[in-house]
Amino acid sequence: MARQILSFERVSTRLGGDTIFDELSFAADEGEFLCILGPSGCGKSTSLRLMGDLLPVQGGRVTVDGKAPAEAWRSLAYVFQSPRLVPWRTALGNVVLGMELRFDRMAKAAMEARAAELLALVGLARDAHKYPGMLSGGERQRVAIARALAVDPRIVLMDEPFSALDLNTRRRLRAELIAIWQRTGKTIVFVTHDIEEALVLADRILLLSNKPTRVLETLSITAPRPRDIAASDDLRGQRARLHDLFTRLEAEPAAA
Ligand SMILES: Nc1ncnc2c1ncn2[C@@H]1O[C@H](COP(=O)(O)OP(=O)(O)O)[C@@H](O)[C@H]1O
Ligand SMILES: [Mg+2]
Repeated sequence: MARQILSFERVSTRLGGDTIFDELSFAADEGEFLCILGPSGCGKSTSLRLMGDLLPVQGGRVTVDGKAPAEAWRSLAYVFQSPRLVPWRTALGNVVLGMELRFDRMAKAAMEARAAELLALVGLARDAHKYPGMLSGGERQRVAIARALAVDPRIVLMDEPFSALDLNTRRRLRAELIAIWQRTGKTIVFVTHDIEEALVLADRILLLSNKPTRVLETLSITAPRPRDIAASDDLRGQRARLHDLFTRLEAEPAAA
């Protein structure tokens, strides 16, 4: 049995007088690709912020790599919807920057060598010298993924990282992310509101409800990768089920 690397135990969160989580519980296993799927505003980003200690835990317990979030920052790296690159640094320089902020005693040459390796891993071996303004949206997001991996986190938190990209780029990056995940063995917590994206990527999908948010359903996705939803009866069935649940969530009146 895989070790549990992340857990929410009866976590309660109120923001702006609104109950977001009322005793939300779930866990991720080490090495797992976990997708958190849910309607807009249900608290997907909030759950990542709690893991990353960007928001204090008000009730219940969040454990990250065996520690409280405030002690676990070394175990985590983030990839956001926008790549958040520094425009005056090259792709290589941006990946190095992530390491400079975390490894204060690592030699510059070692950081650059590692950054170059990671840019190659994300398919940018020949673009290391380019500035963000010279890269496409998909390439910039690849740099952000390399920057996250550069600090050698145990867990990568990804908040709708491909949602701003065009469909073809999105599809390609999903496939690449799976290859990277398989090669690195990282635990990935991937937030999305895209059912097909979750089905293509995840070992397990948590479907969250509207606020106050709970886990409405947990689906294990065992279809082999790479996945073609249209070609698999199992995946088509799971897609239909998720669509159905999602439609019902969107039709629910907003919580008072
Ligand atoms: N700093 C904040 N203050 C007040 N309300 C917030 C704050 N951050 C998020 N919220 C509210 O919490 C809910 C969940 O937000 P979020 O986690 O961003 O949703 P999601 O990522 O699932 O779309 C939303 O209703 C949002 O308006
Ligand atoms: Mg969000």
